[in-house]
Amino acid sequence: MWEGLGSLLLCLLMVSSAPGPPPRRPARELDATPRTTIPYEELSEARHFGGRAHNYSTLLLEEASGRLLVGARGALFSLNAQDIGDGTHREIRWEASPETQSECVRKGRNNQTECFNHVRFLQRLNATHLYACGTHAFQPLCAAIDSEAFTLPRSFEEGKEKCPYDPARGYTGLIIDGGLYTATRYEFRSIPDIRRSRHPRSLRTEESPLHWLNDAEFVFSVLIRESEASTVGDDDKVYYFFTERATEEGSGFSQSRGHRVARVARVCKGDLGGKKILQKKWTSFLKARLACHVPLYETLRSVCSLDGGAWAHTRFYAAFSLAAQWRTLEASAICRYDLSDIQASFSGPYMEYLDGTRRWGRYDGAVPEPRPGSCITDGLRRRGYNSSQDLPSPVLDFVKLHPLMARGVGPARGRPLLLKRNARYTRLVGTPVTVPAGPTYDVLFLGTVDGWIHKAVVLGLGMHIIEEAQAFLEPQPVESLVISAAQHSLYVGAPGGVVQMPLSRCSRYSSCYDCILARDPYCGWDPRGRGCREAAVAPNRTALIQDMERGNRGCEGGADTGPHLPPRNRSVLRGDDVLLPCDQPSNLARASWLLNGSRVLMDGRDGYRVGVDGLLVMDTRPEQSGHYSCYAEENGLRTLLASYGLTVQPILSAPALAPGPPPPSHGAHLSPDVRLLYVLIIAALGGLCLVLASMLLYVVCLRGSGRRRTYSLARGTGRAGGSAVQLQTVSGQCPGDEDEGEEGTDRAGGPEGGGLLIIPGEGTPAPPPPPPAAPRAELSNGVGALPSRLRRMNGNSYVLLQQSENRAPTLPCSFTEELSRILEKRKHTQLVERLDESSV
Ligand SMILES: *[C@@H]1O[C@H](CO)[C@@H](O)[C@H](O)[C@H]1NC(C)=O
Ligand SMILES: *[C@@H]1O[C@H](CO)[C@@H](O)[C@H](O)[C@H]1NC(C)=O
Ligand SMILES: *[C@@H]1O[C@H](CO)[C@@H](O)[C@H](O)[C@H]1NC(C)=O
Ligand SMILES: *[C@@H]1O[C@H](CO)[C@@H](O)[C@H](O)[C@H]1NC(C)=O
Ligand SMILES: *[C@@H]1O[C@H](CO)[C@@H](O)[C@H](O)[C@H]1NC(C)=O
Ligand SMILES: *[C@@H]1O[C@H](CO)[C@@H](O)[C@H](O)[C@H]1NC(C)=O
Ligand SMILES: *[C@@H]1O[C@H](CO)[C@@H](O)[C@H](O)[C@H]1NC(C)=O
Repeated sequence: MWEGLGSLLLCLLMVSSAPGPPPRRPARELDATPRTTIPYEELSEARHFGGRAHNYSTLLLEEASGRLLVGARGALFSLNAQDIGDGTHREIRWEASPETQSECVRKGRNNQTECFNHVRFLQRLNATHLYACGTHAFQPLCAAIDSEAFTLPRSFEEGKEKCPYDPARGYTGLIIDGGLYTATRYEFRSIPDIRRSRHPRSLRTEESPLHWLNDAEFVFSVLIRESEASTVGDDDKVYYFFTERATEEGSGFSQSRGHRVARVARVCKGDLGGKKILQKKWTSFLKARLACHVPLYETLRSVCSLDGGAWAHTRFYAAFSLAAQWRTLEASAICRYDLSDIQASFSGPYMEYLDGTRRWGRYDGAVPEPRPGSCITDGLRRRGYNSSQDLPSPVLDFVKLHPLMARGVGPARGRPLLLKRNARYTRLVGTPVTVPAGPTYDVLFLGTVDGWIHKAVVLGLGMHIIEEAQAFLEPQPVESLVISAAQHSLYVGAPGGVVQMPLSRCSRYSSCYDCILARDPYCGWDPRGRGCREAAVAPNRTALIQDMERGNRGCEGGADTGPHLPPRNRSVLRGDDVLLPCDQPSNLARASWLLNGSRVLMDGRDGYRVGVDGLLVMDTRPEQSGHYSCYAEENGLRTLLASYGLTVQPILSAPALAPGPPPPSHGAHLSPDVRLLYVLIIAALGGLCLVLASMLLYVVCLRGSGRRRTYSLARGTGRAGGSAVQLQTVSGQCPGDEDEGEEGTDRAGGPEGGGLLIIPGEGTPAPPPPPPAAPRAELSNGVGALPSRLRRMNGNSYVLLQQSENRAPTLPCSFTEELSRILEKRKHTQLVERLDESSV
């Protein structure tokens, strides 16, 4: 009779770990899981700002005055940076007039999104004024705004040369010594350009005979003060990061001409343009390929730069998403670039366009002097080249035709820091954090397309994602991120509002192990005060326990292995199913269960199912009585989370005879009729579940025959909604798959080979709601605690269908291969019948 409920539980149980060796995973797959998940409801310290306006996409932090300035749609705000939600904000309404808006609609633009004044640029102009530009319903305007009075000026400046018309267009801009350096595609249908305006010498890029930029989408620009402490009297330079259409041929598959690649370009701040050749054009423009994980990750999404006080140590972190061919899949890569590598590329060989073959190739001819694209240095000044206007014609002619460098810029140490599936990063910012023991670590905050923030620390060759936090309840792209060290805050701008959250939440870590496993450079365990503390403000910084490098040392010997847990007693009838709840605090931990302190319980054996939420004992037998303890295994450490005393009663004895504290045993007094009714209800539910399960199986078979892809469950990240479903491709036997995943990355996943057949919840009917399990609860077998857990399991959208022993022979073995296969398939289908792209 209870098998009905058993199969229901089985239907819903989320299984995280499985017996057998860890799944094989190529070392290159660095897929990372955030260690902890903080859903919106648990983000209690966050402050919010939002009002009638939309699209809070431009943030400017003024640390000195403690204000956070926000450019939104039709408005500018000045917020108190200490607490953006304290209600003391000031506002400038700046909307496009109805006439401008109707003209915008007449031009065929969207009256719901585009025909507004989207403030896209907001920076400090001088000591008294800010400078802002808005799209102004496709007639861009700019304004110098008195920051004290915080009101619009009486007259505006023309914005056509400074601000894109399109609110969604990639755009980056800087104010340097009063001059405006902007890069975008300005007008509708114009070509993209890097421009300097509000400057005695306005400059732009060259368009003939070659376009220096091709369909470029800009993401970031930064001034590097390379003149500081320069022994050669070098100039300051502005670096631009963007994705553009490649005109050169690539190598390898998919690298046909016309694919989009990431680039870095630079110009000299002191550039004045040429005198006759390249008049009013940059004479110092050079660009180079920026490679991260070629050819998969080619679309640049965001870049940040960190220098730690000295420009020579400048490093860039860049977020990439998959190249356009794979746009139906979500995945991101993070790469680091060192300024010295970019400089090396710009001082290397050039590329040249050969009219004969109509291809780009490496230029091996003579390079004129002074070196084309270099800034004016002391050496050149001594030779009489006081500015770019003095440069000889051969040099300028060369610059005109050779904007592209032959050698690309590769990621530091030759590999990405992070590859992440099921996440698309839209913005990132970083800050160096010095730990009490001395070293400095770069901490990055990555905003996703659905409103989450991933906090990560860069550790040697890789990155560790400390946590993921849901900044917005409604999924929406993070459009802007700013860090304030003074306020210890991160500000997040998105379409629906601005959120302020603390840079660290050390008090969330309850034990010493939890504190060091987090590997958060902001946090350390205080052995005297017995708490996880903010390292920056702890009274005795150097006494804090931290282990950034390994993340598992320092807590031995202390008594802080976790809270003391008295066993909870459970008593069940023979043949019942019982769930012993045990929540894993960390997504990286693996649950392990011991019976009577020695026997290790394996998932799927002897009627035990091990899940992230607990242990399910099915069809209990008296010999399964004993002491059960639940451990979290993470990074070589094992911590006790819960323990239970389980007593299985022979079927005939009354529950009232159970030892230990008598459970509320109303069940014993229920009339036989009522019990029969309960039994029938449960049987009916069980039957319903079986029917649903077979329907699901049928659906899967239908889909499966079309796709021939099988997944095993790797791990749920615990967030609600199907977007978080992380699936791991079942590893088959693949050549070159022999090297095991790196330590720490190969967490428990699906069993090797034939595994649990799991289908993602998306697109499948939801499992039936949890049953009213009233009579079961009274037997205190844990089922009473189940409904909430079931909901969580439902939230993870997993449905366990059946165990499968058959091994699909042609399974792809890694994400990379999976993508390659998709591409291969696409090529074929395109050759054969030119299928609609969305069918991939
Ligand atoms: C936008 O245009 C649609 C149809 O052209 C119209 O129904 C709608 O009211 C307009 N919305 C606004 C805000 O003007
Ligand atoms: C700042 O710029 C504004 C606008 O160009 C100008 O009116 C103002 O005088 C400037 N202030 C200072 C201190 O230079
Ligand atoms: C502005 O916000 C709305 C949602 O509030 C969103 O649909 C739209 O795409 C946003 N526009 C831009 C340009 O970000
Ligand atoms: C460069 O400047 C120096 C001193 O300022 C001047 O003597 C020289 O003639 C200038 N050279 C050119 C080519 O203008
Ligand atoms: C700080 O910690 C060190 C090492 O544990 C200890 O020797 C010292 O007395 C502590 N200082 C204070 C002020 O607690
Ligand atoms: C569970 O039972 C054991 C002995 O069987 C007893 O020592 C322990 O205190 C009980 N625990 C609780 C929480 O009642
Ligand atoms: C565990 O220990 C209890 C007594 O402490 C014993 O009754 C039970 O049989 C043991 N269970 C197993 C599976 O060894």
